[in-house]
Amino acid sequence: MKLLEILVGILCVGYVSSLDNGLGLTPPMGWLSWERFRCNIDCTNDPDNCISEKLYMSMADRLAEDGYRDVGYEYVNIDDCWSSKQRDSKGRLVADPDRFPSGIKALADYVHNKGLKLGIYGDFGTFTCGGYPGSEFYMELDAQTFADWGIDSLKLDGCYARISDMPFGYPVMELYLNQTGRPILYSCSWPAYTAHPNYPAIAKSCNIWRNYGDIQDSYSSLASIIEFYGKNEGNFSEVAGPGRFNDPDMLIIGDFSLSYYQQRLQMVMWAIMASPLYMSNDLRQVPEQSKEILQNKNVIAINQDPLGIQGKRVDKVNDYEIWVRPLAKSNYAFAAINLSGSSPSNVSLPLAKYGLTSTGGYLITEGFTGDKVVVYKPHQMFTTKVNPDDVSFYKATKL
Ligand SMILES: *[C@@H]1O[C@H](CO)[C@@H](O)[C@H](O)[C@H]1NC(C)=O
Ligand SMILES: *[C@@H]1O[C@H](CO)[C@@H](O)[C@H](O)[C@H]1NC(C)=O
Ligand SMILES: *[C@@H]1O[C@H](CO)[C@@H](O)[C@H](O)[C@H]1NC(C)=O
Ligand SMILES: *[C@@H]1O[C@H](CO)[C@@H](O)[C@H](O)[C@H]1NC(C)=O
Repeated sequence: MKLLEILVGILCVGYVSSLDNGLGLTPPMGWLSWERFRCNIDCTNDPDNCISEKLYMSMADRLAEDGYRDVGYEYVNIDDCWSSKQRDSKGRLVADPDRFPSGIKALADYVHNKGLKLGIYGDFGTFTCGGYPGSEFYMELDAQTFADWGIDSLKLDGCYARISDMPFGYPVMELYLNQTGRPILYSCSWPAYTAHPNYPAIAKSCNIWRNYGDIQDSYSSLASIIEFYGKNEGNFSEVAGPGRFNDPDMLIIGDFSLSYYQQRLQMVMWAIMASPLYMSNDLRQVPEQSKEILQNKNVIAINQDPLGIQGKRVDKVNDYEIWVRPLAKSNYAFAAINLSGSSPSNVSLPLAKYGLTSTGGYLITEGFTGDKVVVYKPHQMFTTKVNPDDVSFYKATKL
């Protein structure tokens, strides 16, 4: 494709459309190494936790054998620090030979044989954030290399790059990925590096995109992401849909910092926000309670609703918030949270004000269990108890 055609294609973005690779029609689900394992390359002293083929193979094993794959978690995603510091004589990226002795192609085969998909990480600039080779000047070759290896997803970070190049360059990588003929889910870090992101343009070129700082294993980090999504500056929520989703970053459920209730909170908010469900934990030692949250089919079904509409914060009084997500068949999911509550309190919600106006009413079920709570009619109030840092979560099925 000629540069002129590419430019015309990019400039003709007048409405929100998504790239036509058939992927990410609902938010992608899987596992991603970064938050938990970072750039740990010390396989001598920490062989079980270093970034290596062994780590990704054992996570693939756990996804397949511990029930995660069967509820939808399918991507095993490599993050930074997987490659050698040098490209090969033909300019191609190569995996670190000590940590990935079998190579990425063999790892992809291993992952595919488990019924899973393999994602990889690159960078838009000259280096990755960890100082490994970036794709600037090598985009076409890197796209082809990833396709040749059997890669199913690419996260393209934005370190060591000119921000002003991103509106042109991120779509170019999408075209190169497309030209390989292999469907590759495209995750862009573009808006996270941009002051006023052009979300319709981003949604046209990327399946998912990070728009806020990296999540850390802390409740304050989780709360700050929820606040950013609540503010919805630039109206990024509106561009989400099948094939194009905002990405508030990884699930830290099963890690160290969150209480049981805070883990429920993250799972529910990621479902309401139509967010990718990429766990970053050690699947070899996830506590049973956390695993139950991660594998809750009712919550996952709301995350995976086929309409792909991103839920929004519809009301906020101090730290007390109501979030609502429209679902298929005129149903809704809604949640009440109090991010800094100090004791349980009862609240009454005028649900009709938030869109639940069908005169026939709604069957309200508890979001995790599916248990019937009440039949709601639009003139009524719906009363629920909100616990500190927890979530009161419901599905409303139109009658
Ligand atoms: C490439 O783009 C075309 C046109 O948008 C689309 O029909 C096709 O499915 C895409 N192929 C891949 C592999 O993404
Ligand atoms: C976002 O939506 C609001 C309300 O519809 C509108 O006033 C505002 O201009 C929009 N902002 C952007 C950046 O599109
Ligand atoms: C939220 O928490 C604050 C602080 O504890 C409390 O004053 C307020 O009443 C709570 N609101 C609701 C609706 O739970
Ligand atoms: C909340 O309401 C329930 C009944 O709906 C009641 O049993 C409970 O005592 C109330 N809790 C508070 C903190 O007011």
